[in-house]
Amino acid sequence: MGLCASSNTTATASVSPHRNKKAKPSNESATLATSYSGAASGGPGGGSDLSQMTGRGRAIALKKVGENSFMSNLVQAHSGSITADYIIDSGAPLGTGMSCVVKRITHRHTGKKYALKAVRLNRIEPDKIADLRREIEIMKALDHPNIIKLYQTFEDHSYIYMVMELCTGGELFDRLADQKNAKFTEPKAADLVSKMLSSLNYIHLRRVCHRDLKLENFIFEHPGSDAEIKLIDFGLSKVYMENAANMKAVLGTSYYVAPEVLAGNYGMECDLWGLGVLAFMMLCGQAPFSGDEDPDILKLVKIGKFSFVPKNIWRNISSAAKDFISKLLVVDVKARMTAQEALQHPWMTEHRDQKVLAMDQNENELAEGNTSKEKRRVFLRATMVLLWLLLLFFGGNCCHIVDVPKGSCTCFCCTGPNFLFLFFFSNLFFPSTNRNIR
Ligand SMILES: Nc1ncnc2c1ncn2[C@@H]1O[C@H](COP(=O)(O)OP(=O)(O)OP(=O)(O)O)[C@@H](O)[C@H]1O
Ligand SMILES: [Mg+2]
Repeated sequence: MGLCASSNTTATASVSPHRNKKAKPSNESATLATSYSGAASGGPGGGSDLSQMTGRGRAIALKKVGENSFMSNLVQAHSGSITADYIIDSGAPLGTGMSCVVKRITHRHTGKKYALKAVRLNRIEPDKIADLRREIEIMKALDHPNIIKLYQTFEDHSYIYMVMELCTGGELFDRLADQKNAKFTEPKAADLVSKMLSSLNYIHLRRVCHRDLKLENFIFEHPGSDAEIKLIDFGLSKVYMENAANMKAVLGTSYYVAPEVLAGNYGMECDLWGLGVLAFMMLCGQAPFSGDEDPDILKLVKIGKFSFVPKNIWRNISSAAKDFISKLLVVDVKARMTAQEALQHPWMTEHRDQKVLAMDQNENELAEGNTSKEKRRVFLRATMVLLWLLLLFFGGNCCHIVDVPKGSCTCFCCTGPNFLFLFFFSNLFFPSTNRNIR
């Protein structure tokens, strides 16, 4: 597998020096370090891959994936040249994968910018093309604010192209690494986790299991701190129908892989384990299961052995957050929270309550601000009217009020242009009156 070996000799590894590569499906359950085997993703017995389905079974799966979604009808497949419709940016790519490059593109007619994932067909084994088509089928059917949108696909002899929503904010991996001590504040982590969970709940309701949750597979819409987070890379995803045999293929990424995946018999709960690992990492900047080599990590994963260390960091983290993680990193899948249960966990609900409270407070402050501004506006208007009346009735005699030479003022005051005078006057002395109030 391509996982970077840790240079850290401690039991837990810091986030910053690691970048995890995807483990490719393997029939070996002992390790993820085996090469990308010929086994179809989902393995024998999975049997509900979109790519493997024909006739009625396939139609059922598509309906299930695409229900309540307009996207599946809107994503267009083209066989023409991508460059006829788009200008491909020649700059640095947005990202790269084992067999793909992701670049910025601009639509020739609308000028709108998108991300283009170009997968080189001669770089992947023929049976993996089916996996890629499955990724496309799955993505077509998804429409959620925290999941990347697929708009169009193109295909030529050498590439399959996916035109996607453009995200310029980089990967969660980098954003976390950029934080002080490579960790988010607890409210920020809770906010991101609740959005990630929302995307998981959405795909699980449609029987899609992502199977490769990791820091690199969440990206941000833009570089700002309020950017929306988006789940990407459905390359290892699978439609897992109810009553279907469990999934068997051993795949994923060492730090995040669930114990039942290593055992080669699992359901959608494996994504919740991945989310537990992510929540842990986001709160303390370290992985819960870590070691120098993959086997060291996987040994801990299999028994679900982790603790809230370093203690000096976890001491300041709420017991609700720790409980949330403890209920996800459970080896027994029946005891592990589902996405829906996790959404109802106190760590999530308290966070949502606090967010609503903060929004209410902002609105109150805004309303209070508006009331005082309104009072100021009434006062200033009254002053203006009074001055205007003074000018109207007393003409040039009132010029001493504003220290304007008597002669020059009289010509304004005796005729209509005294409005103009008042306008300049009000702008000079009460500039905020006309600019800020509304
Ligand atoms: N819509 C997008 N906007 C901006 N950047 C993106 C977008 N999609 C992907 N990227 C970047 O490209 C990287 C690779 O994309 P992706 O994860 O989909 O490929 P991959 O499946 O990991 O590749 P491979 O299967 O070949 O290993 C991502 O980690 C991300 O940094
Ligand atoms: Mg990826």
